[in-house]
Amino acid sequence: MTENKRPTMNWMDVLWLVFLLGLALLPPFWEWHKQVTLLVFGIVQFTEGWIIGRVPRRGEIYIVLIKIGLATVLVKHTGEISINSSYWPIYFLPVVTAAEYFGPWATLSWTTLASAAYCAYLFDPEIRELEIPAESYGLLAIRVLFFFLASMLVNRFVVENRRQTQRYQALAETLAETNRRLEQAQAEARRSERLAALGQLSAGLAHEIRNPLGVIKGSAEMLTQKLGASNPLATELAGYISTETNRLSALVTRFLDFARPLHADLTPQDITAVLDRALNDVAQFWRGAPVQVVKDYSAGLPLVPLDESLCEQAFVNIVQNAYDAMGTGGGSLRVQVRKARASNRNAGNLDGVEVRIEDTGPGIPSELREQIFNPFVTTKKSGVGLGLSIVSKIIDGHQGSIRVETPGNRAGDSGQGPGARFVIFFPAASDKVAVGQTAHLVIS
Ligand SMILES: Nc1ncnc2c1ncn2[C@@H]1O[C@H](COP(=O)(O)OP(=O)(O)OP(=O)(O)O)[C@@H](O)[C@H]1O
Ligand SMILES: [Mg+2]
Repeated sequence: MTENKRPTMNWMDVLWLVFLLGLALLPPFWEWHKQVTLLVFGIVQFTEGWIIGRVPRRGEIYIVLIKIGLATVLVKHTGEISINSSYWPIYFLPVVTAAEYFGPWATLSWTTLASAAYCAYLFDPEIRELEIPAESYGLLAIRVLFFFLASMLVNRFVVENRRQTQRYQALAETLAETNRRLEQAQAEARRSERLAALGQLSAGLAHEIRNPLGVIKGSAEMLTQKLGASNPLATELAGYISTETNRLSALVTRFLDFARPLHADLTPQDITAVLDRALNDVAQFWRGAPVQVVKDYSAGLPLVPLDESLCEQAFVNIVQNAYDAMGTGGGSLRVQVRKARASNRNAGNLDGVEVRIEDTGPGIPSELREQIFNPFVTTKKSGVGLGLSIVSKIIDGHQGSIRVETPGNRAGDSGQGPGARFVIFFPAASDKVAVGQTAHLVIS
């Protein structure tokens, strides 16, 4: 039971109790049925919230029923002739309670029931012996009509109040959601600013490192040439210098690719040729466990406006990651190309080509899936974490899209993980762009 469902007293309850106490002090004072009924009324009133909290759906029904019963008992014991009891307005209590908890139709039904309970005294054997004048029936009808008036007025007020509360709640939720999004956007903006500054810094540094690297590499090669076989140790060391310089140089190029604006020359062409080149590039230098490449290209694919070298680089980055993921155990790489249609926020539905690159590696953990396209996110010892951010930049430049999926559980396939699937969409060349026509684009 939660704290707020415990019986607690609010000022309204106090008011009810004062009212009931007042009734108790008024005649007939020594009528014990009346006093006990009023006491039970007080207890019910005081514990109403608690009962409704404990009996969620039926609590309100019980409360109204109890109050109708108590009102009927009170009327019975407070008048010479029950129906003439001056305590008849006690029926307002169940009627107003019903109006508070139920909708208009249910309130009408409860009011009818309360009125019926009151009018039931017409069938009291004592009364049946008496002659009832017509105006008494009129008086009774007026009382009953007042029950209905009170219940409907209170119910309208309560329903309207409830509606307003719901409206404010919905508004508060929308505001909270907007606030949350705003905070998220601010955090992202701060992160972007930091990354932009970092990008500029790396670009500057990389640019400055490039020239000395060239000199070091040239000198190492000269040394190897000059010394030849005469000094094997120096030749070996010069070889190390050369390899490490190459590695550094590749790293610097990667930084620069990420940081500087890319110049893309988009020419409509066959995407599968570019993809094949990327697959060969990676396979050629692969030194890990064997990877089986399965190609599945649809026939009659439309041409796609591409910058060959940038796209090749993007595919190399994705394929290289897949090879790295399957590194020690090997596996298979499935490459599918087919016609597709995607919806674009600006241009509506777009026809194009979808490339799916799917490996059988360990897959990408769900908590990392949102982040892998951000720069410097890596799980590899020697990784920089720039591969996929460059991919995303290149794909954006081609007005395409990229998403990552988990192909599904391959339980039973020994030694294979759930895998990762990269789905890349490229819009096809529009009819207006003639084949062979080139568009120059700067991707920043
Ligand atoms: N096919 C894949 N299977 C499993 N994890 C992957 C796959 N592709 C990418 N990842 C995860 O995404 C991370 C980011 O990849 P990304 O290519 O951006 O950087 P990287 O490969 O670590 O470094 P580099 O800059 O050298 O490419 C990887 O470190 C890896 O954890
Ligand atoms: Mg990579």
